Amino acid sequence: MNADPTLVVHRDLAELSEAVAGRLVSRIGDLHHTQDAVSLALTGGGAGTAVLRAVAQSPDHTRVDWSRVDLWWGDERFLPPGDPERNETQAREALIDRVPIPAERVHPMGADAAPFADDPEAAAAAYASELEAGLQSTNGVLDIVLLGVGPDGHVASLFPEHSALHDTGAVIAVHDAPKPPPTRISLAMATIRSADEVWLVVAGTDKARAVATALAGTGAAPAAAAQGTQATRWFLDEAAASGLPADMGRRESR
Ligand code: 6PG
Repeated sequence: MNADPTLVVHRDLAELSEAVAGRLVSRIGDLHHTQDAVSLALTGGGAGTAVLRAVAQSPDHTRVDWSRVDLWWGDERFLPPGDPERNETQAREALIDRVPIPAERVHPMGADAAPFADDPEAAAAAYASELEAGLQSTNGVLDIVLLGVGPDGHVASLFPEHSALHDTGAVIAVHDAPKPPPTRISLAMATIRSADEVWLVVAGTDKARAVATALAGTGAAPAAAAQGTQATRWFLDEAAASGLPADMGRRESR
């Protein structure tokens, strides 16, 4: 059984990312009261990266015990190490290089270089093993998965009607993705749905239709299926919420 979505709308991307960053820091703190390590899966994309930047800029992040946070990724663009388009590179620049997190707590997906050169399947399989080993203390379940949403309703690198959606495995290789680059690695939907909490962060009018469809529960797009077992939280800016009924969700504009 997965959790029905809740929804909060902020004025714009700046307010949205700041608010989600604040909630994230506070949620990590709460989880640290009841468990040793907190596992967080990061997303690529503009909104997700803005949240990471806002975490780094928030004075509150100094209250996080980063030595007890494991950073995973929901998806990765299969490119050489350090490529500026890799989600890892962007997350390092936005957050990881700015907080005292031990290197062994950072778990990037494999890059297109040895030992995985030209072999995203091998990189996906290796990541599945690393994830399984890393999440042993929490029954293989991530605490929080952050996701962006594409205009077509994709999340992570799970694109609507793409054949990779049928692949088995906790982590999958994706070829011919409609969003560049074409080769990617992604958590499978089953892995996302096994997480305790899924947080979707979405900004911009180009997302309005995908958001409205997913939240109406009518579409078959991956965004509609991305739900945590304990919580499914949608965080939108007003533009992304513009296709929703005005009384839906909580509006938090300053
Ligand atoms: C990626 C992603 C992808 C992204 C969405 C939203 O690697 O590109 O992880 O799923 O989150 O496409 O991206 P934007 O927030 O930039 O629109």
